[in-house]
Amino acid sequence: MELFIDSADPKEIQTAWDWGFIDGVTTNPSLAAKVGRPYRQIVLQIFEIVDGPVSLEVIATEYDQMLEQARALAALHPVVVVKIPCTRDGLKAVKTLKKEGIKTNVTLVFSGGQALAVGKLGSDYVSPFVGRLDDIATHAGDDLVSNIRQTYDRYGFGTKILAASIRDLQHLEKMALIGADVATVPFNVLETITNHPLTDKGLQRFLQDWQAAGLELPIE
Ligand code: G3P
Repeated sequence: MELFIDSADPKEIQTAWDWGFIDGVTTNPSLAAKVGRPYRQIVLQIFEIVDGPVSLEVIATEYDQMLEQARALAALHPVVVVKIPCTRDGLKAVKTLKKEGIKTNVTLVFSGGQALAVGKLGSDYVSPFVGRLDDIATHAGDDLVSNIRQTYDRYGFGTKILAASIRDLQHLEKMALIGADVATVPFNVLETITNHPLTDKGLQRFLQDWQAAGLELPIE
């Protein structure tokens, strides 16, 4: 399973990237707005940090403008995956962009029907929003990703399932169990992956016992 960081903040991205187990980045207009600096500046900085896929989202809502923006974003760097909203114009744009060899990630996916259309179009990624669905009904997010997994496997769609809107470690672990290809995770949740109070407690105990026995490592 691949893990992406869901952030547009170069500082967060750099920190997480240095941990070694992050494979890519997803941004969205809300995340970009939170950084408070010109988007171009942020994006160029991100390209210097990561060498995996970086999703950048179009902000146009009509086919022609979406294509223009998508082409310009894709031309910025080979790692760019263009994020396109799951609307009729968006899906039409995906079809054209695929013919041009531009990588796409269809975002704001909330139903199996939407995901089916995305798979048929051969988008590189589909982004179901797990947390936002769970806000409405318990397990709705898990159920959707599980349905998409089964459908894609049954028909052999190559589109990668990129679980988005991951709010906590339980969400992430569930996505791994279901078999999402990728999960994009905010920085505060990524931090919790490596932390466990019993790890800290256990380590403290090991070191205390070692010191109390006056041992030394068998190295020169
Ligand atoms: O990148 C899209 C998605 O991950 C947003 O998450 O928490 O705003 O629902 P959230």
